[in-house]
Amino acid sequence: MTTGDIFNFDALADCLISIGLPDWPDVLQPILRSRLSAGTHGDFERWRAIVVALPEAASDQEQLRELLLGLSPWRKGPFSIEGIEIDAEWRSDWKWARLANAILPLEDRKVLDVGCGNGYYALRMSEAGATIVIGIDPTLVYVMQFLAVNAFHRDPRTFVLPLRLEEAPPARNLFDSTFSMGVLYHQRSPIDHLQRLRTTLRAGGQLVLETLYMPGEESFARTPGGRYARMRNVWLLPTIPELTTWLRRTGYRDIQVVDQSITTTDEQRSTAWMPFESLREALDPDDPSRTIEGWPAPHRVVVTAISP
Ligand SMILES: C[S@@+](CC[C@H](N)C(=O)[O-])C[C@H]1O[C@@H](n2cnc3c(N)ncnc32)[C@H](O)[C@@H]1O
Repeated sequence: MTTGDIFNFDALADCLISIGLPDWPDVLQPILRSRLSAGTHGDFERWRAIVVALPEAASDQEQLRELLLGLSPWRKGPFSIEGIEIDAEWRSDWKWARLANAILPLEDRKVLDVGCGNGYYALRMSEAGATIVIGIDPTLVYVMQFLAVNAFHRDPRTFVLPLRLEEAPPARNLFDSTFSMGVLYHQRSPIDHLQRLRTTLRAGGQLVLETLYMPGEESFARTPGGRYARMRNVWLLPTIPELTTWLRRTGYRDIQVVDQSITTTDEQRSTAWMPFESLREALDPDDPSRTIEGWPAPHRVVVTAISP
């Protein structure tokens, strides 16, 4: 089964070569071909059929909506596609609004977005003038959502690859801006993650790190004994002073906290496009400042830092 009908390997290879990563296409092709296949996920063929069918369905709103719903759950958005409004679980536009003016302008920059989900932010970065945006995310349904959205956006400078950061070939300090948003607390070794991110950045390049944190003035981190806000895969939640120490110890400078927020049930909620339980069900109904496990409700911070 070919995946060439949904993924343009040649365009990716041209782009990687043009930005100075000539060895990436040969290393990535076999990995991407194997990931974008039925062997990786039982739903892959269904998703692929949807992506292939989309352009023809563009003139039929009902069919288009049904096809796009077939790629649910849509966690990041919103997207507007040929009159269909995809109201995703997250108002990702709110997070973008909080950080867009607090980071170095993306104009003419080569950008890596680690844990990019369905590419919502990658497309915003491209709109902001990035030369190229490479998004990586191992969750296949999000990659398929990106391919669906980009079947209409037709952004030739943005790619979403089904990859973990640890699987990407060495980026040899090439990117001008690297984003890691919503990823750090999913890592068992967050300090290794920060170190790996630094190897992707050129000298003077900017890391944009967005993560959950523990409220507190002291420097410490907590590991939930079980779940955190119903998530099984949350490993280590630092206070902001602790996070700053991690960044300093991994070699970053000019570390700046540019935004802090407490996630609301308006920003993260169930919708027709993500019909499962969401933040509301993860909070203590009697005290929404706590998760149902008794932890502080999700606090998020955006930190920028420079790789020397
Ligand atoms: C909470 S989502 C965040 C998505 C988006 N960046 C945002 O801020 O809304 C975390 C994403 O990170 C991805 N992820 C987890 N570990 C990763 C890793 N080691 N490398 C790349 N992506 C990873 C997951 O598949 C998931 O889509």
